[in-house]
Amino acid sequence: MEHNNVRRKIGILGAGTWGIALARMLANCGHYVMVWSALNDEIEQLSRCREHKNLPGVRIPEAIQFTNSIQEACISRDVLVFAVPSPIIRSTAQMAKPYIDKQIIVNVAKGIEQDTLYTMTQVISSEIHHRTPLVALSGPTHAEEVSKDLPTTIVAACEDISVAEAVQDIFMNSCLRVYTNPDVQGVELCGATKNIIALAAGIATGLGYGDNTRAALITRGMAEITRLGKAMGCYEQTFSGLAGIGDLIVTATSSHSRNNRCGELIGKGIPVDQAIKQIGMVVEGVNALPATLQLAKRYYVTMPITEAVNEIINGNRNPKDIVAEMMSRGKRSEVGNWVDYGYALPSRKDVGMKRVITYGTYDLLHYGHINLLQRAKALGDYLIVVLSSDEFNWNEKHKKTYFTYEQRKKLLESIRYVDLVIPEENWQQKRTDMHEYHVDTFVMGDDWKGKFDFLKEEGVEVVYLPRTPEISSSQIKHDLYDAASVAKSQTNHDDINTDPGK
Ligand code: CTP
Repeated sequence: MEHNNVRRKIGILGAGTWGIALARMLANCGHYVMVWSALNDEIEQLSRCREHKNLPGVRIPEAIQFTNSIQEACISRDVLVFAVPSPIIRSTAQMAKPYIDKQIIVNVAKGIEQDTLYTMTQVISSEIHHRTPLVALSGPTHAEEVSKDLPTTIVAACEDISVAEAVQDIFMNSCLRVYTNPDVQGVELCGATKNIIALAAGIATGLGYGDNTRAALITRGMAEITRLGKAMGCYEQTFSGLAGIGDLIVTATSSHSRNNRCGELIGKGIPVDQAIKQIGMVVEGVNALPATLQLAKRYYVTMPITEAVNEIINGNRNPKDIVAEMMSRGKRSEVGNWVDYGYALPSRKDVGMKRVITYGTYDLLHYGHINLLQRAKALGDYLIVVLSSDEFNWNEKHKKTYFTYEQRKKLLESIRYVDLVIPEENWQQKRTDMHEYHVDTFVMGDDWKGKFDFLKEEGVEVVYLPRTPEISSSQIKHDLYDAASVAKSQTNHDDINTDPGK
């Protein structure tokens, strides 16, 4: 392996297979590498034997130093690589925090934190308020192959592309080709969620299914991950890139993958907890399940494969029954499937896309509503209608609608000006909605004039459009009620006049 021109000081936190494979590669490029682990036995064993138990036959270069002092591993390094399993990323960041100053921080752990739904760089950032944005390094990179110098590719993702390029320079060599990408969240989402699809692929193999099934799981699995990513505002290209489909292919087809192997054991009928024990290392797909399902719920995206894996792992359902259910799901189109998309929220990075949001009940849809929606859409490219739920109407607005939430939603979704309908559950959500849906313009009818000016503080434009005169849902209800009363009294009157007894 050729030496890098500039020799860097690199600290690697974590002495698992990936940490060691990276350490070896970086040391062979001429960098000064120190590896930290909190486990004294591990440090002692690695520095004595110069071999990792899960990378047999791979010699650890003498130049690599080992330490159990996180201070020593962090201080005066140019780069600090977080290579610990996702469940201990936060505690490791807490330990490292006092010794972090100007280092470039690179994360290679893959996962989503359950309580916060943060990706791993977000977890580290929330502990270490670092001045330089963090880099996520992810892709189809089995440690076993990297440690044999087999040609490999990876993505260095950072919103500041100059930092991603610095990492590209440091990590790139004749065996590892590094691409940059500004979409950190997309890259990390892929890394965490693909493990769930790999579990599914393993389960299918364990059940005795063939290559067709695996190909279906990889393709449809990527489709549901992409749906979630797009709804979260990630780049679509990330999902068809190395950290996306690249990593999914390798994880779902290779025997090196713990997720794939764990799935295979489960498919063969071994109870989930025993299968995990048998793998003997962290099965990230199992850890990623609850958080991924919560994200899917938050962004109104359907993820049938992820849900099926959850039913098997956490619901103790028989995998064969689940497969039968999946095969008999309703018919779908592969293209523009709005039902699955939960309505296709485009990427916030779609160039020039201006997003408009409006709130309301929209009961007994009328031309006043249509006029409002048409003008709201004309203010931008993408219109989100936040529709008051039945509970919100009843508890907060003391309104009982004629149509249910689902019926009103269906009507709104069939209007060509409307791109997305989501529920309004409380008065407070407006502020967070502005950020979550990357809103540019907030629109309401002028019956609300001045009431939502506070949203300007969230950086959005607030517009009140003139109401269409004379029509409203309440007016329609009154008019129908009056008409019914007149008709009823007319009938009574007729009954009296035609009463044969009279
Ligand atoms: N709207 C409008 N012109 C109308 C009626 C409504 O521009 N004639 C607008 C409202 O200002 C609001 C949106 O349409 O921004 C949704 O209205 P909704 O909450 O359903 O109100 P109304 O139709 O007025 O219903 P209600 O009589 O129950 O208040």
